[in-house]
Amino acid sequence: MRDSTSTMERPALAMAVAMLVLASVCGGFPGASCTKVSYDDRALLIDGERRIILSGSIHYPRSTPEMWPDLIQKAKDGGLNTIETYVFWNGHEPRPREYNFEGNYDIMRFFSEVQKAGMYAILRIGPYVCAEWNYGGLPAWLRKIPGMQFRLHNEPFEREMETFTKLIVNMMKDANMFADQGGPIILAQIENEYGNIQGSLPDQESATKYIHWCAEMANNQNVSVPWIMCQQSNDLPPNVLETCNGFYCHDFKPKGNMPKMWTENWTGWFKSWDKPDYHRPAEDVAYAVAMFFQNRGSVQNYYMYHGGTNFGRTSGGPYITTSYDYDAPLDEYGNISQPKYGHLKQLHALLTSMEKHLVYGQQNETSFDDKVKATKYTLDDGSSACFISNSHDNKDVNVTFEGSVYQVPAWSVSVLPDCKTVAYNTAKVKTQTSVMVKKESAVSQGLKWFWLPELLEPFRTERTGSLRSNELLEQIVTGADESDYLWYKTSLTSGAAEEFTLYVNTTGHELYAFVNGKLAGYQHSANGPYLFQFQAPAKLKAGKNYISLLSATVGLKNYGASFELMPAGIVGGPVKLVRADGSAIDLSHNTWTYKTGLYGESIQIHLDRPDLEWTFPRTVPVNRPFSWYKAIFHTPAGEAAVVVDLAGMNKGVVYVNGHNLGRYWTSYIAGDMDGCHRCDYRGEYKTWANEEKCLTGCHEIGQRFYHVPRSFLNAGGLNTIVLFEEAGGDPAKVNFRTVAVGPVCVDAEKGDAITLSCARGGTISSIDVASFGLAKGGQCGAYKGGCESKAAMEALSAACVGKESCTVSYTDDFVSSGCEGSGVLTAQATC
Ligand code: GAL
Repeated sequence: MRDSTSTMERPALAMAVAMLVLASVCGGFPGASCTKVSYDDRALLIDGERRIILSGSIHYPRSTPEMWPDLIQKAKDGGLNTIETYVFWNGHEPRPREYNFEGNYDIMRFFSEVQKAGMYAILRIGPYVCAEWNYGGLPAWLRKIPGMQFRLHNEPFEREMETFTKLIVNMMKDANMFADQGGPIILAQIENEYGNIQGSLPDQESATKYIHWCAEMANNQNVSVPWIMCQQSNDLPPNVLETCNGFYCHDFKPKGNMPKMWTENWTGWFKSWDKPDYHRPAEDVAYAVAMFFQNRGSVQNYYMYHGGTNFGRTSGGPYITTSYDYDAPLDEYGNISQPKYGHLKQLHALLTSMEKHLVYGQQNETSFDDKVKATKYTLDDGSSACFISNSHDNKDVNVTFEGSVYQVPAWSVSVLPDCKTVAYNTAKVKTQTSVMVKKESAVSQGLKWFWLPELLEPFRTERTGSLRSNELLEQIVTGADESDYLWYKTSLTSGAAEEFTLYVNTTGHELYAFVNGKLAGYQHSANGPYLFQFQAPAKLKAGKNYISLLSATVGLKNYGASFELMPAGIVGGPVKLVRADGSAIDLSHNTWTYKTGLYGESIQIHLDRPDLEWTFPRTVPVNRPFSWYKAIFHTPAGEAAVVVDLAGMNKGVVYVNGHNLGRYWTSYIAGDMDGCHRCDYRGEYKTWANEEKCLTGCHEIGQRFYHVPRSFLNAGGLNTIVLFEEAGGDPAKVNFRTVAVGPVCVDAEKGDAITLSCARGGTISSIDVASFGLAKGGQCGAYKGGCESKAAMEALSAACVGKESCTVSYTDDFVSSGCEGSGVLTAQATC
């Protein structure tokens, strides 16, 4: 009897002891729990339990360590349970075996912030990442290694990729970051969207070998969490899970026994200098998410949840802006972007409440037509959760489902957590719209500008560069991308003074030509082919003449088959001096000397060394190419995000207190696109095929405002801004602004709680509109008219003015105030 009891008790006891041991060892943190991650065809299993994963991308180098806790907390408050990031190889290893894990590259600090917030993490190592990041994240110095072929089966590439992957994996392991060590990481990714370009690569056998090698190498790291590959369905190696990327992934069907996972739900789109701003309506993002979970999806990540800023020289492209706002739920500066953030937050809360039904329930579908269906997930206890979707572009439908009639607007999904009541419809946005405004700060007043010319001398006269060749060399390989700038210089002797036209065939992205030290012309390539023929008048003198060409890149290509081989700079030329009669002097095989970078870069002008003698002229030179400017400014008061307005400048780089904020190109005006003139959330959202919609900013400066993170500023103290103006601008117009919520607007129906809110710090100063039947069209902030509800106006004014936020119920009184008909009340307030 005793014996049998003890055998019964033994396993439980052993387990308790084992758990104790685990708990104490796990992550080295007492109480931290070691989590086992596995999967089946329905979901990821976390400690044996199927879970839904609601994740958001936040790329750590696109913000600052000081911003991370707030961004992560906002993601958590927005209803996410996971943070995803790529790893940025060329940021971490700028030169071979020279590593950078400091500041915004402190990846371990980022992951520990995720852990502290109690969230899971997805580690997308790549290390090719695309991401609109310079060279897709691959270090340009790789190109100097003999035999190197990117993303194909060859020893040099595989060796370097493995070295870096191991380094990251081991750093994570050493810090106990994987789930089974008590850490947050539940999934890891190797490569990125290889399947999208695999078929276009020059060597198919090598491509297949490579992607299989990637999977094997990754699995050899023993990270104890599943490895994923996105967009790899055509040639999926064993032991990795495939995932989908796109604006919609509800139709994606992974092959084999794996859950339906969506690694990139694009919340908006990236921006280029020549393009207006992309906006993906909140209704459409919510529709895509609801469709995904309705159709058995269980792992979903927003790309991006916070887009942020391409600081320094990190933007890819060419021609991707410094802002990587992405129209994400958190804007470039980390502010909540409404209504997108709030509309999705409501959906997340419902999906989370339905979690058990979604991953354990039995699924039943009822189709009403090919685009309208109801899906019911039922658990063994009989409880159920439902979705009703209508994918018609412009047809609202009435659906009779289980005895009730539901009106489902076109391109929307209704969520019924109990299969009876519609708790949410993706097309009905109940969250306020907040319009962010940039207010000029007092610190902009009376800025005094210092000036220094870029020292062009060494590159346009006698002195030789660091390299000589009788060829016109490609820029990426020659300069290893240490700078945007590469000088090409040659000389020739002329018997007499003579006039020519200088022609340079170049693969871009920009070219400045100097003849005997004088600027002869400037041109940049169009965003697209990047090839152009430069042309400028050139006057030679009798005797020795110098031709100096300064080629500049604006972010290296990050996408496409063999993207790395797209050359930059003057590759082979020809470079010719052509006479009026057509006869020419071909300089292509002259002796060219080369020099990477600017003089100002070499002496690190941006660090504002005390020994540098800036001039403080009475009139600061304007529209003078190759100028450095400097000014001292106070830190704007408060906590609101700070931006610098560079509207008067042209093209260059901006630094604050030694931090490179990125390239600016304020002379670039965004073109006109049809998408600026139409916006209907209904129907597929696209950023190609001339089917763009909901764009803003046509004919405006591509990017006018540049983020100055608060942590770059000296609180209450003085700061230095340094500009390198390459093409000629006017610093007198530069000013600083703070970003805050301006007008807010909300639509409500009877029974709704109307919530208005100014973000942290701001208060509602007035209720401007509380009306029915408002003719919209203009922007929130410009609403007027309709039939005013006096009762609503009074109730909102009483509850809201002077408050940071307020909630008022939409009661019968609001309607009985003389406005009949429309039940939708629009309120507009000013923060
Ligand atoms: C995907 C890629 C991402 C990003 C995105 C567009 O194809 O995987 O890294 O580039 O497109 O923003």
